[in-house]
This record gives sequence, C-alpha cells and structure tokens, in this order.
Amino acid sequence: MKGLILSGGKGTRLYPLTFTSAKQLIPLSNKPVLFRVIEAIRDAGIEDIGIVIGDTGAEIKKAVGSGGRWGVKITYISQDAPLGLAHAVKISKDFLGDDRFVMFLGDNVIQGGISGLIAEFAGSAFNSQIVLTRVKEPQHYGVAELGPDGRIVRLVEKPKDPPGNLALVGIYMFDSNIFEAVDSIAPSWRGELEITDAIQWLVEKNYDVHPYVHRGWWIDTGKPHDMLEANSYVLEEMTPHIDGYVDRTSEVDARVTIEKGVEVFNSVIRGPAIIGRDTRIVNAYIGPFTSINHDCLVENAEISRSIVLENSQIRNVGRRIEDSLIGRNVVIHRSPIRPKSFKFTLGDNSVVGLLGSD
Ligand code: G1P
Repeated sequence: MKGLILSGGKGTRLYPLTFTSAKQLIPLSNKPVLFRVIEAIRDAGIEDIGIVIGDTGAEIKKAVGSGGRWGVKITYISQDAPLGLAHAVKISKDFLGDDRFVMFLGDNVIQGGISGLIAEFAGSAFNSQIVLTRVKEPQHYGVAELGPDGRIVRLVEKPKDPPGNLALVGIYMFDSNIFEAVDSIAPSWRGELEITDAIQWLVEKNYDVHPYVHRGWWIDTGKPHDMLEANSYVLEEMTPHIDGYVDRTSEVDARVTIEKGVEVFNSVIRGPAIIGRDTRIVNAYIGPFTSINHDCLVENAEISRSIVLENSQIRNVGRRIEDSLIGRNVVIHRSPIRPKSFKFTLGDNSVVGLLGSD
C-alpha cells in the first residue's frame, strides 16, 4: 500500500500564524501535526508516501525533506490550486499507480493511529474504507447516512440538513477504482471536486465501501480552539521524561516532559505539559495542557492551556495567560517605557483578548 497526505491549503482560520507557516507545521506537544501524520502512516507499515503540496510547498519540503528521518520515501506532488480532495487524488495518479492507498489529511489528528484500520483494509476485498465519527455539528463535515444493516446509504458534503451525526474523518482508503470516480464527478458549490462525492459515486456503482466508526477522539485542526484541544489530547497521551535541569526550589509534576538543555528555576510546572529544548522557565507557573517550544523564555509569568512556538519570550506579565496560541519570535513583556499603556506590534489578523470586566 501507499500513503497520500494532503498538505495544501492556506489555513486562513489560523491567521496570523499561517501567514508565515503552513498550518500542518503548527506543533502539538512540540511536534508538527504533519510529522504525526507521517508517523501514523509509517507505523502502519507504509513506506512510500506522497505529499500533495500547494502554496506552502517550499516550507513543507524544507521541514519534511526526503523522509529518511522516518525511514520512509517521500514524493512531492504539486497542486496548482486548491481544487478539492478528489482533485488531489486525480493529480496523484502517476504516483499511486494501481496500488491500494490510504489518504490522510495533513491537519487531522486521531487517537490510536491508523495501524488497525490499514490492517483491516489490507486484509479485505473492500474497494474503499472510510472512517466515521460522531460529531456535534455535522453540517461542517462530510456526513454519512448508514442503513439498519450498517451499510452506507449515502454521503453528503456539508449538508444544511444533516441526515445524522456521523462525520467523515479525513482518513480514507481506496483501490484504483477511485480514479474513475474522481473523473466522473463535477465540482461542488464551493468549486471543489469533493472526495465525498467521489465516494458517493462508488456507493452508487455498488463498489464495496466499508464504513468504520471511530470511537476515540479526532480533531481536524482548522481553528485555534481545535489546536488547543488537540494539544491537550496529545499531551495527555505522552510518556513524560525529564532531560533538562530543574532546581530544588521548583515543583514539576509527574506528567511533564522537559527536553535537553532546559533550565527551570524557582517555578511550578503542572502537567500534562512539555518544555522544549534550551527553554528557560524562571519564577514562573506553567499550567496543565501547555506546550512551550524550544529556545523560549518564561520569566515572572504564568501560562496555562496554551501553545507557544519557538524563540518566544513571556516576561513580567502580571496576569496569567490562558487558552493562547503564541507564534514564533513573539515577545510579551511589561514595558518599562511610559506612558503606562498597552503597546502592541501585531501582525495582520492577530487577536488579543484583554481582561474581561471583573
Ligand atoms: C474535508 C472533507 C469533509 C471531511 C473533513 C474532515 O472538509 O471535505 O468531508 O469531513 O475534511 O476533516 P474540509 O476540511 O475541506 O472543509
């Protein structure tokens, strides 16, 4: 089997972070979502992986390289415009050939990996296997309607009036019949060739499309809120280790990972949390569900349930920072310069939440 990861798109809902970085490279527990997807496919025994890239392709290539780091071979496939998931399959035909494959959206994170799913598909005669999970707002996803026998009745993309709450997770398995399907469908109202429509075509033509209902967590990391939630889930499942230095006046709980070169002085860190290499935590409080990336400084400050990317500094901030997504090379500090006021240098589309009324 082969793997196909879709890693295009502009990530507009994560602006301004995604002005300068591909959304798939935003880290959860200090590791980019895309790396987690590559590892899930590799762990399922697949070594030949294609990555479909768009505008942010150069950055993705630079971060991922040839795949040697994971023991896999990566082939890049350029998509000139974001014309849909089925279009991505179309342009990957040369790479995929006649092999069965798994397609994985590069911004999806799923509990438990996909090894079991791949083994089930590989050992079956199914033409396709889709992954479904129950969601609260099905109108934002592809939705499947199952019959009383558990078989698929129909699939609809982002229905106004959903026929149930089973959403399509961004993980799909196909054999080469999918190529006829993607060639047979027309673009949707959003101008995209929808993979949901291509699978519906397979169902209509009586191909065997098997629905697998996933019961753990799954997150499509489109928005800041999703990133924070996914970060919490991933942190909760980490096996912690301490490789850095923690002084005797600090209190670090058992579910905290501290990487090499980290220094923690006179601070409290409550897990699950991760502190990336060469970061310094001084007179600070790091609360649960927080990922601080490498080469950061948190001094005389408190932060919890947040993600901080590399080389950022948080110093002398009087109130606790919470539920925040902080980019690279950001400085948040108490300014010594008068007047005593908030002083911001923010990128386009930044969001600052000041204190609500007490
Ligand atoms: C895509 C698919 C949708 C699926 C979702 C999962 O939506 O079209 O069927 O439920 O991924 O993440 P999009 O992210 O393009 O809106």
